[in-house]
Amino acid sequence: MHAGTGNRIDPDRDADDELGTCGCTRRSLLAGALALTLAPLQVAAQNEPSARNARPRPGDRLVFSDGERAGQPVSVADLAIGVAPRFAYPADAATQTVRDGSRLNQVLLVRLEDKDISDQTRPHSAEGVVAYSAICTHYGCPVTLMHENKRAVICNCHGSTFDAGNNGEITVGPATRRLAILPIKSVDGALIVAAPFIGRLGPPQE
Ligand code: FES
Repeated sequence: MHAGTGNRIDPDRDADDELGTCGCTRRSLLAGALALTLAPLQVAAQNEPSARNARPRPGDRLVFSDGERAGQPVSVADLAIGVAPRFAYPADAATQTVRDGSRLNQVLLVRLEDKDISDQTRPHSAEGVVAYSAICTHYGCPVTLMHENKRAVICNCHGSTFDAGNNGEITVGPATRRLAILPIKSVDGALIVAAPFIGRLGPPQE
């Protein structure tokens, strides 16, 4: 009596394709095991932001984000008191990679008179220069204007006004949340990120 055809090995198939008791092939089991082994690594890699998308890190150098000097380092001497904000991105110090893959990484830089900088904000400033998220916390427009008081910055879209001398606090709405501050330091005049953003970035999520 012949064995049933269900257990018969197809001579055209490789041994590694033999059916196991679960109905799986040895090859597919091996592939599955390998996939399970690699899956956490792949998920970790997917979750790891690229250098361009990563948020500013201590040691990053600030570089101009636009204009003729885009990509060039920003120094304290490039900024004057009372003028409109300048815009910058952080750049990895080792690789020079500019972190411009996320708009939320753009920062505004303004220089203030020392008397206009609060005790809370001073440790995060560098020779009168302060750095904040450039993205308005109302609807996400860039914050582009300097108030005539030479201390506050204004979003041109709906007029939200933020006190650059005091932690980016709101002085005029409609925004309801302050700007995130980016602690910086000066190294031989160059502006360097001292710590990650403090505060939430961008408008509230709906
Ligand atoms: S987006 Fe800035 S005030 Fe509305």
